[in-house]
Amino acid sequence: MKKFNDMILSVTIGIIDFLYHNHPIQRFWVLETIARAPYFAFLSVLHLRESLGLRGDEHLYLMKEHFAQTVNETEHLEYMESIGGADRWIDRLFAWHLVLIYYWIMVGYYFVDAVDAYHLNAGIEMHATETYLNYLWEHPEDEKIASIAVDEMNHYIELIRAMELV
Ligand SMILES: [Fe+2]
Ligand SMILES: [Fe+2]
Repeated sequence: MKKFNDMILSVTIGIIDFLYHNHPIQRFWVLETIARAPYFAFLSVLHLRESLGLRGDEHLYLMKEHFAQTVNETEHLEYMESIGGADRWIDRLFAWHLVLIYYWIMVGYYFVDAVDAYHLNAGIEMHATETYLNYLWEHPEDEKIASIAVDEMNHYIELIRAMELV
């Protein structure tokens, strides 16, 4: 599954990179819109398991962790909106369709194979970190983007830790 994850990731990144190579802020907004979906999906599945009495030892930790990630990604998203990332209707149309599909894929994926769902999302967080770091090469003065890049790296580390728990 990890090879499948890598393939899906590189195709999706390739499409987004092609569409947004001249629009970094819009690209960030699209990425942040998509970035939240897996955490919402993980929480949905954890809540479902809770409701069915299938609570594991790691549940409380994972629920706190994923809720914090949804909040953090929403802060990133709001920042991107404040600098114009969602001003074009075409970007909103693209991202909102993509995120709807992606959310449900991640619900199903996490339900049947939590480790590989975390692995796919870890790849996305690593790509987000690299995307922000590339931007920082040209805009080293942008402290907000620097702090978001650190957040994305922390999400990556948290997902690797979560992979070991499930
Ligand atoms: Fe983010
Ligand atoms: Fe992230």
